[in-house]
Amino acid sequence: MARSTTIWPEESKKASLPGFRGGLINLEVRNVAVVRKAEMIVEKDFRISDIDPRVYGSFVEHLGRAIYGGVYEPGHPTADEHGFRGDVMSLVREMNVSVIRYPGGNFVSGYNWEDGVGPKELRPRRLDLAWRTVEPNEVGVNEFAHWTKKVGSELMMAVNLGTRGADAARNLVEYCNHPGGSYYSDLRKQHGYGQPHGIKLWCLGNEMDGPWQIGAKTAYEYGREALEAAKVMKWVDPSIELVACGSSSRAMPTFAEWEATILDLTYEHVEYVSLHTYYGNRDNDTPNFLARTLDMDQFINSVISICDYIKAKKRSSKTLHLSFDEWNVWYHSNEADKQVEPWTVAPPLLEDVYNLEDALLVGSMLISLLRRADRVKIACLAQLVNVIAPIMTQTGGSAWRQPTFYPFMHASTYGRGAALLPIIKSDKYDSKDFTDVPYLDAIAVFNEEQEELTIFAVNRNLEGGLEFSADLRGFKDYSVVEHIVLTHDDVKAVNTADNPNNVVPAANGNAEVVDGKLSALLSKQSWNVIRLARKV
Ligand code: AHR
Repeated sequence: MARSTTIWPEESKKASLPGFRGGLINLEVRNVAVVRKAEMIVEKDFRISDIDPRVYGSFVEHLGRAIYGGVYEPGHPTADEHGFRGDVMSLVREMNVSVIRYPGGNFVSGYNWEDGVGPKELRPRRLDLAWRTVEPNEVGVNEFAHWTKKVGSELMMAVNLGTRGADAARNLVEYCNHPGGSYYSDLRKQHGYGQPHGIKLWCLGNEMDGPWQIGAKTAYEYGREALEAAKVMKWVDPSIELVACGSSSRAMPTFAEWEATILDLTYEHVEYVSLHTYYGNRDNDTPNFLARTLDMDQFINSVISICDYIKAKKRSSKTLHLSFDEWNVWYHSNEADKQVEPWTVAPPLLEDVYNLEDALLVGSMLISLLRRADRVKIACLAQLVNVIAPIMTQTGGSAWRQPTFYPFMHASTYGRGAALLPIIKSDKYDSKDFTDVPYLDAIAVFNEEQEELTIFAVNRNLEGGLEFSADLRGFKDYSVVEHIVLTHDDVKAVNTADNPNNVVPAANGNAEVVDGKLSALLSKQSWNVIRLARKV
């Protein structure tokens, strides 16, 4: 059951809230009819863990206009000599994406990596059965590795365990990582790439539990295949790290049993198990939609329990970590996708147009990942360009940021350091599927080196502000550098090619520190980044 709430019936009341610099900052006074309250304790010594920078990863699949018309478009006014769009590269760099998973996704389970290397004019056009399109193979592993370096990210490569297996996988590792003097490493050199790509992270297939997957398997079949692939891939390059496929979502009927079976077979041969989740607001119930991260938290905690159960069963000293390598909002484009003509090159697929409420959920999902920074070491916002993406383009035209771009960019930029345990007391609500949903979702990140503290906070209250205070304990000598707010009057507001700056953040929040206590009125339906630094 939801508990106490603070009701301020008139918006004029906001001016009388204690501790707020009413009027000093451009804080909007509308929409504060029902103010809620939340408190937080931020303590230096309550560390969850250092945050692995790879939690700020993303994903690019050969799907729709992600590659062709997104990343790659020779002839585009901003394209470089390799055909990569400069405007897209700038936006990717702005997001500080640490790692990029490639080339799928469902696509990888039917992919022959050899089709995408060597002279472009000799590369085959293939039917991609995953998305019913035609793949021209103009971009393959070499081009993508090159692009990934250019945008300052690390490549995370997936191998095909759908139609192929250990043999193709170990050949790909040899092609990418072996220095030379063997068939596949020399082939790479012959293709113009003298230096190995040095790809450290590898996914053993994709969503192999899903009936929609090309070459889907039972847990036992997959576990055996993944084990044999893992062995030979590491024999080629012992420095690589491997991700075993967990369930496609927590809702899969085989969830939990799948993880237990596949990890029983692969535990000592892999470093991570994957999690995937997508949320939607199909019934237009925003309070319920914004509570979906309670499901995500349970999903993460359950997978950790399964990993630790296998660890116990095996009397192993090794702790397995989590790779949440597909997460996002995905539902807006579902109907449109049914109308797309099959067997064309790069049709507009999965082109979700995101709104403010999606950005708030993305912010909350990032907070969920950081809450378990001790075990979630890799995470990929799925995806990056045009396909359920923070970055959209017009083929031949402009590129712009969707509202979901901002929470990711903020977390990736300011969320480096150690995640601190969020001790929160918040007013709560009940929704269709969840009880006791805190209006405040928040976490603090301490960057010791820079002497910076950042609080990321979502106000789930759709009816008014959230009176927020934080006891800064060991950070009493810190003061506010800026308080960035992403909000809009209309929770359904979007950015488009014609109106790309409709939903944008502004440094107009009113957070302040007085006597070691931080206070702020978080705007209705908002994502907040409160940046503090030690006073000099
Ligand atoms: O990201 C879109 C698709 O979602 C991926 O191809 C697949 O792995 C998942 O089902």
